[in-house]
Amino acid sequence: MKAQEILSKMTLEEKIYHLVQMTTMTYLKTDGTNIVTGPDSTMKLDKEYIYDVGTLLNLVGAQTMIDAQTNFLNGSKRKVPPVFMQDVIHGHRTLYPINLGVAASFDPKLAHDVAKMAAKEASLDGVGVTFAPMVDLVRDPRWGRVMESSGEDPYLNSQMAKATVEGYQGDMGKYNIAACVKHFAAYGAAEAGRDYNTVDVSERMLREYYLPSYKAAVDAGVKMVMTAFNIVDSVPCSGNKWLVKDVLRGEWGFDGVVISDYSAFEEMIDHGYCEDKKECAYRAMEATSDIEMMSPCYANHLKELVEEGKISVEQIDAAVLRVLKLKEELGVLDNPYRSVNVEEAKRVQVGPEHRAIARYAAEESAVLLKNNFILPLSKDIKSVAVIGPNADTGAIHGDWPCGGKVDETITVLEGVKNIVGDRAVYAKGCNIEYDSTDESMIDEAVEVAREADAVILCLGEHQSYSGEGNCRTNIEIPRVQYKLLDKILEVNKNVVVALFTGRPLAISELDEKAPAILNMWMPGTEAGNATANLIFGNANPSGKITMTFPRSLGQVPIYYNAFNTGRPKLPEYDFNRVRFTSSYLDSPNSPLYPFGYGLSYTEFEYSDLKLSADTLTRGGKIIASAKIKNVGKYKGKEAVQFYIHDLFGSVVRPVKELKGFEKIELDVGEEKTVEFEITEETLKFWTKDMKFEAENGKFDVFIGKSSACKPFATFELVD
Ligand code: BGC
Repeated sequence: MKAQEILSKMTLEEKIYHLVQMTTMTYLKTDGTNIVTGPDSTMKLDKEYIYDVGTLLNLVGAQTMIDAQTNFLNGSKRKVPPVFMQDVIHGHRTLYPINLGVAASFDPKLAHDVAKMAAKEASLDGVGVTFAPMVDLVRDPRWGRVMESSGEDPYLNSQMAKATVEGYQGDMGKYNIAACVKHFAAYGAAEAGRDYNTVDVSERMLREYYLPSYKAAVDAGVKMVMTAFNIVDSVPCSGNKWLVKDVLRGEWGFDGVVISDYSAFEEMIDHGYCEDKKECAYRAMEATSDIEMMSPCYANHLKELVEEGKISVEQIDAAVLRVLKLKEELGVLDNPYRSVNVEEAKRVQVGPEHRAIARYAAEESAVLLKNNFILPLSKDIKSVAVIGPNADTGAIHGDWPCGGKVDETITVLEGVKNIVGDRAVYAKGCNIEYDSTDESMIDEAVEVAREADAVILCLGEHQSYSGEGNCRTNIEIPRVQYKLLDKILEVNKNVVVALFTGRPLAISELDEKAPAILNMWMPGTEAGNATANLIFGNANPSGKITMTFPRSLGQVPIYYNAFNTGRPKLPEYDFNRVRFTSSYLDSPNSPLYPFGYGLSYTEFEYSDLKLSADTLTRGGKIIASAKIKNVGKYKGKEAVQFYIHDLFGSVVRPVKELKGFEKIELDVGEEKTVEFEITEETLKFWTKDMKFEAENGKFDVFIGKSSACKPFATFELVD
């Protein structure tokens, strides 16, 4: 085997440097001097081994890859080609919607197809690995990284994780890239939604809610895992032996590459877990972490640790072999340039075929939050005003854009013009900054609105308000945007709000005031075309939110799969004050929009909800089914959701758990029966004794349009 053969020839220093990750930029010097600059310079690496690092970070551009690889190999004695890794998060050059949007499609095939498209574009630039999917379960919209996640549900997150990994990796052919699931583990549980903050969840919560999506990725054959910045059980994930060695490798059998997050090994000092970088290296190696991204603990201290007998050469060999095997699988050991192709990249990236996929994904991801019979607008409309700070900007494709560009992104104004031509008129209305109070543009917008038959008002956030390090303590839209809305409503009632956001926003006031709200998330390169297609009925919204929208920030964290408590406030009293129940003085308990919620231009009627039996024996199965009929005026898609409630357990169980979903398309008048199978497997959870088992007892069953649906039957699991 090639990997083994290469390993057997490497010196200890070369092996250690093979576990170091640096930026591609370092190798872009063509004059051979290769001066280490930028973040790499602070790593104080030994110049002699700079051409022995194993992997490189950040790459967009086929020619860049060719240059960097050529320089690297020219400089290297051992000539083991590095593999290039990149954050291909929601597209490489063609962007599709942020991942929270893709999840709202409730369509794993879509998640698969967009990942496949991104893999092709990335592979043509020479990328071998993407740091995706991010599958962190999230409950706090203040956290900027909810945009990268698929939401608050472990089942849905797992389905999306699997589909995405399979989309990227395929059969690891020419146009595939390896996936790296992240951030292991529970990075999404950062307290108060502040990035990198403390995570404190019990092992039960971890296993029940947070771990399933990473495990689903591992089961789907993901090649790499990235450990998280945060602590789990008060130990930083980078050096968390229990988490990485025992759970990931031991229990789950993962034998691929584990990489740190950016400089996370040395951050174990700031955490107060390691005294110095040498201890960081020790702890990381002890946890079986393989690659160190952008900090120098391994490079500068592993040799010393070997000489002192604290780390064995076998431990290092095992790590290096895992990296080499990945390279072998990617074909990099035979062809360092892999699938890079300058010409083909130019042709394929952001080409019509990929734009069509991105547009479809944006249409499927959008969620119609409210519609007072105003949407869809007629294409014959005489004039339409396109107003708002997000109306004429490409800066709505979403953060983590990889190689996506603002000027290649279709603005809403352009999209609307593509349908109604110069019957569209534009005014900005106000600025997008969250602290903007400038009302000077409102009057002009009101005049434009007054003359129009309808207004498309593009509100929300700037795309840079979500993503890594972009957290907020205020998740409302700014007052100036409400002022704009109020003034426009005074002169024109036909207002459709197109909302652009990287997170669930607290928009109770918007919900009260706006006749229609179409939540577009941050929709990617084809943003404007998708928005316009939906507004003018070329496409029918079918997305459903996978993260609860609170009425106000005060309700956060709020998620559907919570526990009942000993003093539940019953839904029928939701809007009334009932003291000594688990409730608020000044707010109902219910969210503004629950998990799984989303409207369509058509209406779906659920009938004939039934269970094939009211007893399930172990090893047997029963079927829950419902008939869904399109009783509205448009062809449409519906994400049919199936939930259970385990009524009593050896530990308390959530009031509802998603256990299945199916997205169906129905013509006007068409009806379909949707079935969900229930077996012992469906009912398993982490019991009092921390065993993953199903317990005998009763279960309520729900099939419906959202997590707010009511139970229709009960069955019992018996031996
Ligand atoms: C992020 C990771 C990302 C890495 C490399 C880190 O700051 O947390 O998600 O993959 O940078 O860009």
